[in-house]
Amino acid sequence: MAFKDLREFIHILEKNGELLRIKEPISPILEISYFTDRVSKLGEEKNKALLFENPVKEDGTPYGIPVLTNALGSEKRIKLALGYKNLEDIGWKLYRILKPEIPHTFLEKLKKLPELKKLNDAIPKVVKRGTVQEVVKIGKEVNLYEFPILKTWEKDAGRFITLPQVITKDPETGIRNVGMYRMQVLDEKTTAMHWQIHKDGNHHYWKAKRLGKRLEVAVAIGGDPVLTYVASAPLPPEVDEYLFAGLIREKPVELVKGITVDLEYPANAEIVLEGYIDPNEPLVTEGPFGDHTGFYTPPAKYPKFHVTAIVHRAFPIYQATVVGKPPQEDKWIGYATERIFLPLIKFNLPEVVDIHLPAEGVFHNFAFVSIKKRYPGHAYKVAYALLGMGLLSLTKHVVIFDEWVNVHDLSEVLWIWGNNVDPLRDVLILKGPIDVLDHATNEEGFGGKMVIDATKKWKEEGYTRTWPEVVDVPKEVKQKVAQLLEKYIKK
Ligand SMILES: Cc1cc2nc3c(=O)[nH]c(=O)nc-3n(C[C@H](O)[C@H](O)[C@H](O)COP(=O)(O)O)c2cc1C
Repeated sequence: MAFKDLREFIHILEKNGELLRIKEPISPILEISYFTDRVSKLGEEKNKALLFENPVKEDGTPYGIPVLTNALGSEKRIKLALGYKNLEDIGWKLYRILKPEIPHTFLEKLKKLPELKKLNDAIPKVVKRGTVQEVVKIGKEVNLYEFPILKTWEKDAGRFITLPQVITKDPETGIRNVGMYRMQVLDEKTTAMHWQIHKDGNHHYWKAKRLGKRLEVAVAIGGDPVLTYVASAPLPPEVDEYLFAGLIREKPVELVKGITVDLEYPANAEIVLEGYIDPNEPLVTEGPFGDHTGFYTPPAKYPKFHVTAIVHRAFPIYQATVVGKPPQEDKWIGYATERIFLPLIKFNLPEVVDIHLPAEGVFHNFAFVSIKKRYPGHAYKVAYALLGMGLLSLTKHVVIFDEWVNVHDLSEVLWIWGNNVDPLRDVLILKGPIDVLDHATNEEGFGGKMVIDATKKWKEEGYTRTWPEVVDVPKEVKQKVAQLLEKYIKK
């Protein structure tokens, strides 16, 4: 099922008992975010999406715009949002389209057609009218302070838009990119644009700078939650995120033309900011910001975004997320990416069985990978490949396990890591690009990496002793004990 807009999704959340409506007056300065932080850590049963119906300004007057947080913040909700019980199915769909099969017969050619048709049916559609343009404010009427934009942590530099779909076009090829980059509100009409150096939006900025051109930007908030998700997905620059969204929802994304920019944006979003970034303008100071690492990211220099128009629905809902010490909503956004992209990793590395980026590792600190080891040094081959692949290249510690290890079970991971690894032999220290948010490296964005081979070692890898077996009992004993346990130990 494809949601038409955010309201349809909120309705489904409510029907599934996944939404809490908070009616009391509450401030977007620290209060909404701390409430959200507490709820996102409550565990599956009590962790709900939150609709704050009455955000108020410092003088107590209502904004008249509700705030939605934590909408994607659990396994159940991210699956409801994307419309799949098994998120890997999304990746397998892409896998089938990408698989380079040369059809040998006419019949085989025909069989391939439905896959290609799916891609064709996913192309975004530009429509004449969109509910997002029910209210249009241009130039002087633009005022970002009309919206209940959150300040999350005490020492944050101010208010930040935290769940935006930032839309730009490659100044050379015209290919669209949609990224999720936080935006610090600087005044009524400007924000900072926190696209880090490794991200596609940043690349568009540098191309525009080289060409001496302004870069037009549209920022959508809300809409079908698939659109919010794809903005965060690490797709290659050549792939339009809204085409990917069309593939996920099996229905094209409807876009409308901007009013002051030559860009298209989701017709049924809640709010869109139109504007531009002038690469000739000096950078502005962004931050500090309490980040998804759980630490404050110190101030840094980023471009300034000028808002030329704000369009929104007659009664908009402002959607935001809260980041800080994990787990929070982004744990589940990251989980979706881990599951969706696994088939694509297997496309390049068929020996990979599973991969897990634990939320405690804030995505870039740890990758636990299980592989079907076939030859000496195989673990290193996989680690090198992953460290050269998209944003996985920013990973700090890559730990490789044999295929039977459940990389999602932290207890099993530590048990095998500890037992199988001789640090003298199995640890490799490398250099490379590091996530900009990492505070441990001497230099921002550059530092060390650790590859750990936690697989069983072979003779060819220098192991001359006999590798021990994992303790076990015969199948018959297991069956008998299972029956007895059922009788004596009630579930
Ligand atoms: C809630 C949330 C906030 C994020 N904030 C930022 C940010 O401020 N800057 C940034 O560069 N990436 C941020 N990211 C990560 C990017 O959205 C992600 O790397 C995405 O793949 C970028 O899109 P791109 O590959 O098209 O550049 C955030 C992700 C999430 C889920």
